[in-house]
Amino acid sequence: MSRFTAPRLVLGALSVAALLATGAVQAKDAEPVSPIPAAKVTNPGKVELGKKLFFDPRLSRSGFISCNSCHNLSMGGSDNLKTSIGDKWQKGPINSPTVLNSSLNVAQFWDGRAKDLKEQAGGPIANPGEMAFTHDLAVDLLTSIPQYVAEFKKVFGHDKLTIDEVTQAIAAFEETLVTPNARFDKWLKGDKKAINAQELRGYQLFKSSGCVACHNGPNLGGTSFQKMGLVEAYKTDNPAEGRSAVTGNDAERFNFKVPTLRNVELTYPYFHDGAADTLTQAVDTMGRLQLGKKFTPEENADIVAFLKTLTGDQPKFTLPILPPSSDKTKRPQPFE
Ligand code: HEC
Ligand code: HEC
Repeated sequence: MSRFTAPRLVLGALSVAALLATGAVQAKDAEPVSPIPAAKVTNPGKVELGKKLFFDPRLSRSGFISCNSCHNLSMGGSDNLKTSIGDKWQKGPINSPTVLNSSLNVAQFWDGRAKDLKEQAGGPIANPGEMAFTHDLAVDLLTSIPQYVAEFKKVFGHDKLTIDEVTQAIAAFEETLVTPNARFDKWLKGDKKAINAQELRGYQLFKSSGCVACHNGPNLGGTSFQKMGLVEAYKTDNPAEGRSAVTGNDAERFNFKVPTLRNVELTYPYFHDGAADTLTQAVDTMGRLQLGKKFTPEENADIVAFLKTLTGDQPKFTLPILPPSSDKTKRPQPFE
């Protein structure tokens, strides 16, 4: 799995400009953003199995919720809801981040509490507010389906399938969910006509105003945890505390993983609480709260135009046909 590593940036209120000036983020001449490489599939059987599991709602108590319910690959790998809907129509606590390009992030979740995709994938299955199953039930369920048993055996080489293999397979599938060939990547690779004059102005403003201090690397984010509301406090009713909930360090309160801006046109609404409905709103908030800068409507529109050049080729594959349940398969409980 490729992972972009950058020095963890620790920013004070005035240091964004200083950081850019010293070139800590950006070597002279080099762009602070790099193109995403296409996924290299080394184990197609594992990816195919992971794809089935990603789409299989039988891994939820209700038999209705799959990973794809909240990370819909027809909608940029997100659910386009303020916060997700879980088991029994429960209101989720936080906005669902995209799974696209998530293998490029330093850690998973808004607060980074899972170190990688494999560790992450076990979470939602057993989360009572999400799929509300247990790992044992998931393993029992899959074991009751002969085609799954055969497929796990083919991929992992033994009869008894485990939750570890379930999460490995899902992670292998997720690693293929990268979106290369965005117009902006074509521009980075030298096709100067790939973006228009307004989009280029937006990129220049994105760099010169300091957005790149946090949104950098191939994912334009995902490289560090940063305070939401660096210059001006962010007001929200959402109780999420961010990084401090993981580290116990109060200084990291309200630090969130900087989200990727890849495919951001598709992944509204924005921020961990889903409070910004539009990119115009999100850019305005970022300018004021992170940089102390009020953009004019023209400047805002230029940055938004730039952000829309970051939509890449969406993953293309045949929708998996899931192996049928057997007579022994425990039936779902959607209404109990
Ligand atoms: C009920 C909705 C829901 C379901 C079902 C769900 N997720 Fe999520 N997912 C979320 C939410 C919400 C978050 C953010 C949680 C947080 O950061 O605290 C998230 C976070 C993630 C992330 C981290 C992305 C990042 O950049 O930090 C990945 C990867 C992910 N989910 C994959 C999966 C997989 C794989 C499954 C199926 C096994 C799944 N999700 C099922 C809602 C859901
Ligand atoms: C100090 C670091 C920092 C700077 C500077 C910064 N951002 Fe952000 N950005 C973040 C963090 C952290 C979040 C997530 C905040 C949250 O959800 O509470 C975020 C979220 C966003 C989002 C929403 C993405 C999503 O999927 O929810 C957009 C869009 C965005 N930033 C654009 C920009 C733009 C444009 C600029 C420059 C005007 C900028 N950011 C400057 C750290 C930064």
